[in-house]
Amino acid sequence: MKVTIVGAGNVGATVANVLAHKDIVEDIVLLDLIGDLARGKALDSWQQAPIEYFSSRLMGTDDYADTADSDIVVITAGIPRKPGMSRDDLISTNAKIVSSVTQSILQHSEDPIIIIVSNPLDVMTYAAHLTSGRDRKKVFGMAGILDTARFRAFLATEIGVSPKDIQALLMGGHGDTMVPLPRYTTVAGIPVTDFIEHSRLDEIVQRTKKGGGELVGLMGTSAWYAPGAAAAQMVEAIVKNENRIFPCCVKLEGEYNLNDVYLGVPVTLNKKGIGKIIEVNLNEEEKNMLNTSSNHVKAVMDTFDSMGIS
Ligand code: NAI
Ligand code: 2OP
Repeated sequence: MKVTIVGAGNVGATVANVLAHKDIVEDIVLLDLIGDLARGKALDSWQQAPIEYFSSRLMGTDDYADTADSDIVVITAGIPRKPGMSRDDLISTNAKIVSSVTQSILQHSEDPIIIIVSNPLDVMTYAAHLTSGRDRKKVFGMAGILDTARFRAFLATEIGVSPKDIQALLMGGHGDTMVPLPRYTTVAGIPVTDFIEHSRLDEIVQRTKKGGGELVGLMGTSAWYAPGAAAAQMVEAIVKNENRIFPCCVKLEGEYNLNDVYLGVPVTLNKKGIGKIIEVNLNEEEKNMLNTSSNHVKAVMDTFDSMGIS
């Protein structure tokens, strides 16, 4: 198995490093416009192998020929946001980057599974899917695992239990309109509402929605450890053909009564990419929140369309 990660910045290098530690693929290629950055980070990561005991070979490059015959490609290329910016503010720069990266990848790999990470995530997934002309189950985006992990981490801290025992579901776009679902959130199978009062739970939901912004405020750029681990977890589920269930961003074609919009929904991931798109029952309030999120993503998709890139 060969995995290429495009963009050797904070997130891309973390994906490569976490993936190498999982020791589940033969080759990891890290590609960046700045070739020496990719070469340096890949070399540094590879020099951990004798210490951490992994065999996955890492290489860095700026030449797409080195990505030939990749089974999975993770696209993290693009600019991150700075304080005061929303993810949507990145569209004019990142749309061109994601479209051109997708084209370059497909010149060297026939049928890779493509995972988008660049922001604004839902619309960059649209850009890559449109450019690729591939099946929607082969081109999808990472955000839901990250957003759910933030929710789970906050809950673990609040309740004083291991984050391993928090199961949660979160849907919608990767932005302030995301839809955390406390009704589908449990602590070792026990409803979360048995542990936390509604008003406090609502505060944690609100903090989750702004979780990316909280980190931008602290660091002056966006997060990378949890995003990198989240993308690597998607790669792992694909490589191991696990059929794990994660919220991923995919084009909806009638699911949740929504069409032609790219939104986070629960899916299974296996060696073919997305296996099933799972439709959970939503109450009226939850449906309304998902529709609001969909409308927001559609408006940013319209902005992308007006740019005339694809
Ligand atoms: P970064 O600035 O550290 O790294 C981006 C890298 O992309 C740079 O090394 C740059 O040289 C490279 N790059 C730019 N254009 C390129 C091109 N055409 N071809 C190859 N490489 C190119 O940024 P960071 O923090 O790694 O974030 C990357 C993207 O991921 C941002 O758009 C950020 O908003 C997004 N992100 C998305 C998350 C999600 O949940 N989906 C979470 C965290 C970040
Ligand atoms: C995050 O949520 C910026 O999308 C990135 O951290």
